[in-house]
Amino acid sequence: MRSHYCGQVTEALLDQDVTLCGWAHRRRDHGGVIFIDLRDREGLVQVVIDPDVPDAFAAAERVRNEYVLRLTGRVRRRPEGTENPNLATGAVEVLARELEIVNRSEPLPFQLDDEDTSEEVRLRYRYLDLRRPVMQERLRLRTRVISAMRRFLEQHGFMDIETPMLTKATPEGARDYLVPSRTHPGSFFALPQSPQLFKQLLMMGGLDRYYQVARCFRDEDLRADRQPEFTQLDIETSFMGEQAITDLMEAMIRAMFKDVLDVELPDPFPRMPYETAMRRYGSDKPDLRIPLELTELSDLMAGVEFKVFASAAQDPKSRVAALRVPGGGKIPRREIDGYAEFVTRYGAKGLAYIKVNDASAGSNGLQSPIVKFLPDEVLSKILTRTGAENGDLIFFGADTAKVVNDALGALRLRVGADLGLVNGDWAPLWVVNFPMFEWDEQENRWNALHHPFTAPRVEEAAEVRANPEHCLSRAYDMVLNGTEIGGGSVRIHRPDMQSAVFELLGIDAEEARAKFGFLLDALKFGCPPHGGIAFGLDRLVMLMAGAKSIREVMAFPKTQTAACPLTQAPAPVADAQLRDLNIRLRRTP
Ligand code: AMO
Ligand code: AMP
Repeated sequence: MRSHYCGQVTEALLDQDVTLCGWAHRRRDHGGVIFIDLRDREGLVQVVIDPDVPDAFAAAERVRNEYVLRLTGRVRRRPEGTENPNLATGAVEVLARELEIVNRSEPLPFQLDDEDTSEEVRLRYRYLDLRRPVMQERLRLRTRVISAMRRFLEQHGFMDIETPMLTKATPEGARDYLVPSRTHPGSFFALPQSPQLFKQLLMMGGLDRYYQVARCFRDEDLRADRQPEFTQLDIETSFMGEQAITDLMEAMIRAMFKDVLDVELPDPFPRMPYETAMRRYGSDKPDLRIPLELTELSDLMAGVEFKVFASAAQDPKSRVAALRVPGGGKIPRREIDGYAEFVTRYGAKGLAYIKVNDASAGSNGLQSPIVKFLPDEVLSKILTRTGAENGDLIFFGADTAKVVNDALGALRLRVGADLGLVNGDWAPLWVVNFPMFEWDEQENRWNALHHPFTAPRVEEAAEVRANPEHCLSRAYDMVLNGTEIGGGSVRIHRPDMQSAVFELLGIDAEEARAKFGFLLDALKFGCPPHGGIAFGLDRLVMLMAGAKSIREVMAFPKTQTAACPLTQAPAPVADAQLRDLNIRLRRTP
């Protein structure tokens, strides 16, 4: 059908004949001569149709935007002064000899180059949206990312193995998508939240090194970096500890960045304990490109007159922390009020601040609604500890540690972006030494911070039982620019430890048997020590593409309400189908 892609028609082909297929991006009638910009996956080229070639010219007159064309012509240099330096093909044009309209198009529901088209419309006509060069570029990036990682894994002896989609629930903390079984009335499959248990079983099966580009399904509240159906690069290994696994995985990410973006990431990636990340950044996924940090002040505030600070300082579950903004003194009052409003989203009840006008002048040099409540020696310690200088602004948070971390952690990102303080392009790191468990205030029980199969840092089940709140796990997260792009752990490989962890999580022996009996059995038959990780491929590609949401790097994503405007899924089904599945819907009156 064709000899070249449109985007490949450059000066190298001067005076040669080419046959091209593509879409009419734009047609211009220049009184006697017709110009068509022909577009395909590789780019645009200008085609000229002269009235000297009557058949081609007659066809060109009928061409409208997005018609599919096939044409043959000769490549020639564009006349002096009409070159387009923005196009790879901008020095040449194709003088058409034959032009065939392969298919027509109705006028499109939106202009492909209109940046303001709503996402709803773009998703409804995704096949048109995908014609936009920016979308094609993103999907091309995605395919290169996957292929570079596959190459690395295959060089390192990993086997690509598929695991079931129709399976039993895997607890990753979200709701399951369920599939009713016709042959077992009243029973359901769950779509996998991840291949977690199967990849562990593969290690028990002696496969040693596994990977899979795996679809995962999670029914959870959606955000810019969450989809109900997403892709993991899922990995598991045997006989490797966390250092060896994380070393290998960061080598893979480094090789992929070099390969795909020609970027050299640091070697090694920095590692930060979870506790440090929370204390200094208020987040377990700190964006290290922003040079702002929280400062702990709880110990200074226990005796101050300002109740809000004093009571937070006295409560072990709370903290008082500061966020120093160098040069922030010039932030006007109305913007500070905006930030105070912003932190209420995270549960903060206020946002005290101090503007440091003249640090040498004691409290007279400080402008703030709270200096009157704080003694001079506390004020001076705040300045020393935060390292504040004249012209700086210091924000304060006092509340439960969670609220302070969430609020000041988010404020740190917001202020960093607003003041243009984001340094460098790529800041990867490992966050390690996570707690094993987190106390669920509402449910009054322990939850697994990672998942129930993650190994603790202690050897004996009794040590976990004795001290769950201080028990650390062998989990690790890879963070890039403030986004968690991957998470994994060394797993429990002994049945007694697995039972102890289930028990602590409030899963009794009977429930453990019903839900995970197959795993508990498998642990009894010579299970090797093993561990792994899963990368969120969509998130990784989103960051590499500079896109705002993972929807922009998925061919057919779902909306914020987990629906597909293109196919109208999910949709009601026929009664007969429900009857087959033994499902009766309760009709709302
Ligand atoms: P986890 O639940 O941390 O770990 O998931 C691994 C990575 O997958 C990405 N991710 C998502 N991406 C898009 N939409 C979602 N809804 C979504 N949820 C998670 C994140 C995350 O870091 N089985 C374990 C891995 C292991 O222990 O090996 C797991 O699934 O980037
Ligand atoms: P108030 O005495 O309530 O007017 O508060 C004085 C200052 O402290 C105001 O700037 C409030 O925004 C701020 N503030 C109140 N509660 C908190 C809190 N929990 N954390 C940080 N700042 C607060």
